[in-house]
Amino acid sequence: MEANIMNSLLHATLAAVLVMAATSATAADSGNPDRGATLAAQGDGSGAPCTACHGADGAGNNAGGFPRLAGMDADYLFKQMADMNAGQRTSPVMQPNIDNFDEQQLRDLAAYYADMPVPETSTDTSVDASVMAMGSKLVNEGDWDNYVPPCSTCHGPGNQGVGHVFPALAGQHPNYIRSQLQAWQNNQRNNDPNQLMTAIAERLSQEQIDAVAAYLGSQNATKQ
Ligand code: HEC
Ligand code: HEC
Repeated sequence: MEANIMNSLLHATLAAVLVMAATSATAADSGNPDRGATLAAQGDGSGAPCTACHGADGAGNNAGGFPRLAGMDADYLFKQMADMNAGQRTSPVMQPNIDNFDEQQLRDLAAYYADMPVPETSTDTSVDASVMAMGSKLVNEGDWDNYVPPCSTCHGPGNQGVGHVFPALAGQHPNYIRSQLQAWQNNQRNNDPNQLMTAIAERLSQEQIDAVAAYLGSQNATKQ
């Protein structure tokens, strides 16, 4: 019963967010991947080039906590960088690399990474089967006792992402997924529409965060 009420509330909120997103999508230049490639190799003048952390293939790196960018939605990637420069998403490691770029340059960079092929997922075989099972259950069925809906309700079938509002999580690095859930818990990331992710992250235990991160990181990603 409670799950049903939660579900209809959730769908009403989602519909509102999608309408908001559709009306706020402007006709701005969607970005030029070739210009983006040049900027990614050069950097913004005072920061490091993108390739230093995100890799030449945009695959990122689990140990460094650098997210995969390759094949993600361009408008989503652009929004994240704009949010960092606006101070709604705090990252002392990332933000100094983009603070000299204007809107068009950020769109070019986003278009460049969105165009790249999705790198292969590497599963961490050292993760306990029971941890993976907990992650799978939470991602696919949710934790209704704690009002946590399945992640795939918003992030889409197989968590491959939906449009530019809901990013792909499949194949994203576990350390990065973990750091973002903690960033929402710690008020370091405040850029989610209608606080959809804040509400969820706040209800997850550390054990659950580790489990969803490991499980999502092991899922195969396809191009969004
Ligand atoms: C010194 C390492 C470093 C460099 C150089 C760097 N990044 Fe990042 N980037 C990060 C880290 C770390 C994060 C995760 C930030 C966080 O924890 O919120 C990130 C996050 C991002 C995100 C958000 C991805 C998502 O899924 O939300 C985008 C987009 C991005 N970087 C693009 C770029 C671009 C474009 C450049 C080059 C102009 C660049 N980065 C240079 C380390 C770096
Ligand atoms: C009610 C909808 C909704 C549900 C359910 C949901 N998310 Fe999200 N999630 C979002 C939105 C919206 C964003 C993008 C926020 C933004 O614009 O910065 C997001 C972003 C994320 C990100 C950041 C990805 C990146 O590349 O930066 C992670 C990690 C994440 N969600 C994990 C989860 C996990 C794990 C679950 C399930 C336990 C979950 N989400 C369930 C709406 C949702």
